[in-house]
Amino acid sequence: MAKAFVVAVDGPGGVGKGELTRRLAKALDFELLDSGAIYRVLAYAARKAGLALFDEDSLVQEAKFMNLTFEPTDAGVKVLLGDEDVTLAIRTEEAGVNASKVAALPKVREALLQRQRDFCVEPGLVADGRDMGTVVFPKAEVKIFLDASAEVRAKRRELQLKAQGKVADYDLILSEIKERDDRDRNRAVAPLVPASDAVVIDSTDMSIEEVFNKAMSLVEEKRKGL
Ligand code: C5P
Repeated sequence: MAKAFVVAVDGPGGVGKGELTRRLAKALDFELLDSGAIYRVLAYAARKAGLALFDEDSLVQEAKFMNLTFEPTDAGVKVLLGDEDVTLAIRTEEAGVNASKVAALPKVREALLQRQRDFCVEPGLVADGRDMGTVVFPKAEVKIFLDASAEVRAKRRELQLKAQGKVADYDLILSEIKERDDRDRNRAVAPLVPASDAVVIDSTDMSIEEVFNKAMSLVEEKRKGL
């Protein structure tokens, strides 16, 4: 019986997983899961509903019942919460920090597991997150842990924001990246760590093309061996 081929890509915020996984999904013609977007939408929905970001039981209810859809468009994936287009609202640094707060709650993570696993369809899935290879898809055919120093990630983010004509303060970005790293790496459940069978790619001195080529070669190698 055919089975979905899963490529799990984990790593800290701002490391370029989004760009890499979008390219991989397109090249392989696989489904794409942006698991961070789910945590971001949950934090956004919680704020909108007036919930505290530590109110675990209410957040679990929100996680189970929020009406979230990813809609592919020519300009990229549109993220909808009910009828509301939240694509841009969930991409701010604050939304990232809020997401990392709700993501630290064990029951919230549990409530979102099946929603994430439902993305796994044939012929395959490219999954972007923090615990794709360790918790959500422990049997993934390829596991990549993409890393880069906090300073390089902050610099890339600063340039990205400036290119969009936005105000960007390097020191503030760096401190938010470090705050989020700290929470993601040190939480009790599903902390950000490479799976024991993951290939670690340090992209500090690599271009996106080099990272993409390396990831594709890992996928091709595995496919040949199956
Ligand atoms: O990847 P992204 O920056 O969109 O993720 C936002 C936050 O969601 C992360 O800082 C992390 O706390 C949380 N997250 C997580 N597990 C995932 C994906 C994201 O805990 N699989």
